Amino acid sequence: VLESRFKAEASIALRNTIIMEEDLRGSLGRDFFHGYATAATQVEGAWNRDGKGPTIWDTFAHTSGRVKDKSTPDDAVRSYDLYKQDVNLMKSYGANAYRFSLSWARIIPLGGKDDPVNEKGVKYYSNLIDELLRNGITPFVTLFHWDVPQALEDRYGGMLNQEAYTPDFVRYATVCFERFGDRVKHWITYNEPGVYALAGYAAGVHAPARSSFRDRNDIGDSSTEPFIVGHTQLVSHGHVAKLYREKFKPTQNGMLGITLHGNWSEPWDANDPLDQEAAERAREFEIAWYADPVHKTGDYPASMRFQLGDRLPHFTEAESKLVLGSSDFYGMNSYTSFFVRHKTTPPDINDHKGNIDQFDENKEGVSRGPASDTYWLRTSPWGFRKLLNWIWVRYHKSIYVTENGTTAKGENDINPATNKSQIINDQFRIDFFKGYVGELARAVKEDGVDVRSYFAWTFTDNWEWAAGYTDRFGVTFIDFDSPDKTRYPKQSAYYLRSLFEHLIAK
Ligand code: NOJ
Repeated sequence: VLESRFKAEASIALRNTIIMEEDLRGSLGRDFFHGYATAATQVEGAWNRDGKGPTIWDTFAHTSGRVKDKSTPDDAVRSYDLYKQDVNLMKSYGANAYRFSLSWARIIPLGGKDDPVNEKGVKYYSNLIDELLRNGITPFVTLFHWDVPQALEDRYGGMLNQEAYTPDFVRYATVCFERFGDRVKHWITYNEPGVYALAGYAAGVHAPARSSFRDRNDIGDSSTEPFIVGHTQLVSHGHVAKLYREKFKPTQNGMLGITLHGNWSEPWDANDPLDQEAAERAREFEIAWYADPVHKTGDYPASMRFQLGDRLPHFTEAESKLVLGSSDFYGMNSYTSFFVRHKTTPPDINDHKGNIDQFDENKEGVSRGPASDTYWLRTSPWGFRKLLNWIWVRYHKSIYVTENGTTAKGENDINPATNKSQIINDQFRIDFFKGYVGELARAVKEDGVDVRSYFAWTFTDNWEWAAGYTDRFGVTFIDFDSPDKTRYPKQSAYYLRSLFEHLIAK
């Protein structure tokens, strides 16, 4: 009842919104995928039910004291129990695709190549996939969204140990292709491997929380470990791609890729060649770190080798061959932009950004968006278009936007029992989508960039890693205090439905 009332209210509010400029009508291809992205840890809950093993994020949330609101993902939004309701709701939002991740430790609780498969875990994902297909929603499946089985972290140090880790990841992928590949045709090996490496092994703010600088854990070596972890991810991705192409693709006919994060870096002083170089270097450290080996050269960018020397691992000839060309598409997550200025001092040993400074404003005082209190609220649709163009020119691969979205100010303070109209009215998020998706459509129509999908982050409010339940990214409001994690559609959900009706060619 609630749901339909909210739907009615949301669509009334939407009548007053101009969906998008007329000239962009029909600018996206008929087979364009649009929908929502999620990750297992952030939505499933049931963290220790039906045989699931603990992951490094379960450990992090339970023991590190580093989650902002001291919350855990134990229940999250209970999509493990409520997936049918979710698929229904998603369908009512007009989505034709859903990107979600599999929890390795739900499928193989101990994670290793000789460890047993948990049939109950397999069954859950199999049911979810069937439910999606029954509702005309195409599954995009991510194998790894940051949740290494704790057993592998304990056994050999997880991704720091390339030799031990790779066969375990390949075996996990094999199980997934065998069990789901008859129905899943879009695979993503890693989600934002660079964020996993940097937040987990440099800043230490994400699991497995290793950091040798600032006031962090004082474990590990942040000047080398993120790059070692990055190398493990690239090489193990290469092995999985080879496996899929040789053993599964001939009969299953799907595609497989890797999803990389990236923000646009704009020179602080547009006329200063040193700032222009610094901005390019920032893009190389952030994006080309993974994208050049996979999509362009089979090796790391020269700017990284120059600054990092042997702290950056070297590809063997065989590894380089394995990794180059190993992704059928460019998977792109992007959220914001920065202004970048060169530094005159030599790089610190723990610098991972290319010896640059990042700013919210450029030299002229132009801000990257409405100045507000958090990182997420600083939006910059213009940077999104520039980034799409940069990726297209440098890599010339079809781009699948696999994540893009925002929080909105004040949503944490809403009490759903007393203030429903506030939930519905997420004008900030509507403006965000209008800006970003509009620039995407312009990149396609006017710049000729080949973009095939747009997955909004995210379907419902969820457990935002170290921010716990305090950053709401959903187009569906969740009442986290209610036992059934009641879902309340926001206006942006209906905006996106109308937006893609407008943009996709009939
Ligand atoms: C990217 C990550 O893939 C996702 O898990 C996260 O919630 C969003 N960014 C927002 O921070």
